[in-house]
Amino acid sequence: MKVLLGVCGGIAAYKAGELTRELRRRGATVQVIMTAGAEHFVTPLTFAALSSNQVMTSLWQPVNSDVASGEPGAFDIEHIRVAQDADVLVLAPATANFIARLAHGFADDLLSAICLAAKIPIVVAPAMNVNMWLHPATQANIETLRQRGVQIVGPGSGDLACGMVGDGRLAEPTEIADHVLAAAQRTSDMANETILITAGGTREPIDAVRFIGNRSSGKMGFALAEAAMARGAKVILIHAATTAAPPAGCEHIHVTTAAQMERAVLEQLPRASMVIMAAAVSDYQVVSPHAQKLKKTTALTLELTQTPDILRQAAQQRRAGTLMVGFAAETEHPVEEGRRKLREKGIDVIVANDVSQPGQGFDSDQNAGTIISAHDERMLPLSSKRVMAESIMDYLRTTSLRLNPR
Ligand code: CTP
Repeated sequence: MKVLLGVCGGIAAYKAGELTRELRRRGATVQVIMTAGAEHFVTPLTFAALSSNQVMTSLWQPVNSDVASGEPGAFDIEHIRVAQDADVLVLAPATANFIARLAHGFADDLLSAICLAAKIPIVVAPAMNVNMWLHPATQANIETLRQRGVQIVGPGSGDLACGMVGDGRLAEPTEIADHVLAAAQRTSDMANETILITAGGTREPIDAVRFIGNRSSGKMGFALAEAAMARGAKVILIHAATTAAPPAGCEHIHVTTAAQMERAVLEQLPRASMVIMAAAVSDYQVVSPHAQKLKKTTALTLELTQTPDILRQAAQQRRAGTLMVGFAAETEHPVEEGRRKLREKGIDVIVANDVSQPGQGFDSDQNAGTIISAHDERMLPLSSKRVMAESIMDYLRTTSLRLNPR
C-alpha cells in the first residue's frame, strides 16, 4: 500500500516521524511531502531516513530524469503522478492554515496541489492551539471537508505546546495509522456491488400545475451514492424531486411520480446486489388528475388512492442475496416504527430517523438515526449526511458479507 504523508508547519511535525515508522511497520510504502512551514520544524533528511524515500518539498522540483531519453510519455507532471499512484493521503499534522486552504481548493504549493489532484481517500489529523481549533472559521472548514468525505482524526485533548490545555493535540500515530489503513481498504471494499439508490421526493399531479409532494431534498440519497462510489461500487441513482443536482459518476434515472419510481426500481432490480430506498415516496396519488389548471371554487375534494409500496414489492421480487434497505422518517417512536416496517416490508435493514427534531432530517445537511436489522440496532449520532452515509455503508458492507460470504 502506498501512503502519501503530507506534513504541515506545526510543532507536531516531529510526531509525523513516528507516524512514518508506524505506517512502515504495517507494511506501507510512505512518500512524505513537506510544506515550506514544516521544513522550519523538521528537516527533509529526517523523513527521508525514516521513510527510505526521497522527500518532496516543492512544486518546482526538477522533473524525472527519463525526460532526457526523449521517450513519449517520459515527461511526468510530478504532483499529478504522485496523486494518481497512491492509495491514500494523510495530512499529519494538518494546521489551521492548511485546513483552510484545503477547504477552499488552493493549489499554490506542492502539497495543496497534490490534495486537489488526488482522487484517493484523504485523512486529516489536525493539530493546533485550542482557540484556533475552536474558532468558527476552522470548524466551518472542517465541516466542509467532512461533507466532501474527508476523514478527520482527532484532535486529542491535553497539554498543548503553546502552554494551554484543551483540544488541539495531534492524535496518536497508532490511531492515525488505523484510520489511514481503514480508509485505503474502503476504496475498493464495495467494488463488487451494484447499488440501486433512490433519492428525493415523488410528486403526484393534482392538475397541470399542482402536485402532492413532500419535503425531501434528496441529500441523504446523494450522500449515500457518493459514499458508495468512493468505495468502488457501481451506483444506479433513481431520483425524484431534489433541491440540488445529483452527484456525477453514477447512472441517473429521473422520475417524478411514485408509479414512475416503481417502474424504474423494478426494471433495474435484477442488476442490483443492494437496494437502498432513501426516497420519500408519496403514499397517495390523485385518481384522475386534471389535464388543465383547476379553477378556484369554495371547496375542493380530491379522490386519492394508495400508491404501490415499492420497497415491499422489490423485496418480494429480488433475487437471492440482494440486500434490501429502507428508510423510515418518523415524527413519533422512530425505532418502534422502524422495527415494524422492517418486518412488514420483508427487508434486511432500515434506518429510522426522527424528522420532528430541528436541524436534522428533511432538507437539512445533518441527520441522526438508528440502523435496525433482525440482528442488532445501532445508533447513528447527529452528523453530516455524508458522515452518516459512510457509517451506513460500513454497516451494510458487513451485513452484505454475512448474507453473501465471499
Ligand atoms: N416506500 C416505498 N413505497 C411507498 C412508500 C414508501 O418504497 N409507496 C419506502 C420508502 O422509500 C422508505 C420506506 O418505504 O424506504 C418507508 O417509507 P415510509 O414512508 O416511512 O413508510 P410507509 O410504508 O409509507 O408508512 P407510513 O407513511 O404510514 O409511515
